[in-house]
Amino acid sequence: MIPTLEWLPEGINFLDQTKLPLEETYVLATDYKQVATVIRDMIVRGAPAIGVSAAMGMAIGIERSTATNLADLTAEVAVIAQTLAETRPTAVNLFWGIDEVRNLYNELAAKNTPIPEIKAAVVAKSQRMYDEDIAACKALGAHGAALMPRQGTVLTHCNAGALATCGYGTALGVIRAAIEAGHQIDVLADETRPFLQGARLTAWELMKDNIPTTVLCDNMAAHLMSKGRIQAVVVGADRIAANGDAANKIGTYGVAILAKEFGIPFYVAAPWSTIDLATASGDLIPIEQRSAREVTHSNGRQMTPDGVGIENPAFDVTPAKYIAGIITERGVLTAPYTQSIAQMAEAAAAIA
Ligand code: MRU
Repeated sequence: MIPTLEWLPEGINFLDQTKLPLEETYVLATDYKQVATVIRDMIVRGAPAIGVSAAMGMAIGIERSTATNLADLTAEVAVIAQTLAETRPTAVNLFWGIDEVRNLYNELAAKNTPIPEIKAAVVAKSQRMYDEDIAACKALGAHGAALMPRQGTVLTHCNAGALATCGYGTALGVIRAAIEAGHQIDVLADETRPFLQGARLTAWELMKDNIPTTVLCDNMAAHLMSKGRIQAVVVGADRIAANGDAANKIGTYGVAILAKEFGIPFYVAAPWSTIDLATASGDLIPIEQRSAREVTHSNGRQMTPDGVGIENPAFDVTPAKYIAGIITERGVLTAPYTQSIAQMAEAAAAIA
């Protein structure tokens, strides 16, 4: 399995995704500030991987704290959470990961639990979240496999694979599960300008698994769709609003519109932790703006004239009306999403 991130006795080890596919190197984070830098600099990226990294960042911050009483530790936990929360604004999994560990901390602190026990509990919690993320990817893969063509080509945008999760992937998890179930699928990977998650990461991990993969530039999908070369689209998400609007890597919205025009089903695959019931609709999702340099430079080489204006929103929001289904570990949601999301949330709350 591709080791996106791993809790080791000496720290959290991250596969450096900025260096792929040419170099397979690792960055060891030994404190929470380094975890924040790793998330901000996109050494680790992809919503579910960011969520578990944030949880582990909380855990390492608490575990390595030198506070000798709960009042001091609680003040430190607030700083750790704030530092991690300021890294990337769009993927709701970041805030979910922080909250999962913070809630456990608050619960244990309220009972005056001894500090060594709190430390062990938050570390164990973040490791459980790692395992649960892989299990969620496998479960949503199984739900989504039947939606994939028995034979044909599936387009994906960005990287929603093992590298974007703790393993297996969401959109690529659906593709992997379909192939494991005997579907004959080959993948078209949008290159995904400007950070090239498709060309660098999706192509790298699918080739490692011997899944037939072809990279195309972001402006080629309409042409290929018009020629009948694409049977389905599946992408991940960074935040899904309560009405089903889905934020994902910049360029996803355009692909969804094209898919509708050509009658091709467009699916979003994401764990439940990506659904943000507190955000009513997509226009309320914060969109991260990244540095102009990602657009002006490629491989260190300047591509644009000095002084030209640059836009670099990292995500866009696909309105729910373009989405044929939202594939989660709890099952596949269909329109009307406001109802189907609320019903699934209620059913899960009743079981818990
Ligand atoms: O900026 P990134 O690389 O973190 O963006 C990643 C995406 O947009 C993914 O499609 C999304 O996080 C889903 S990952 C399973």
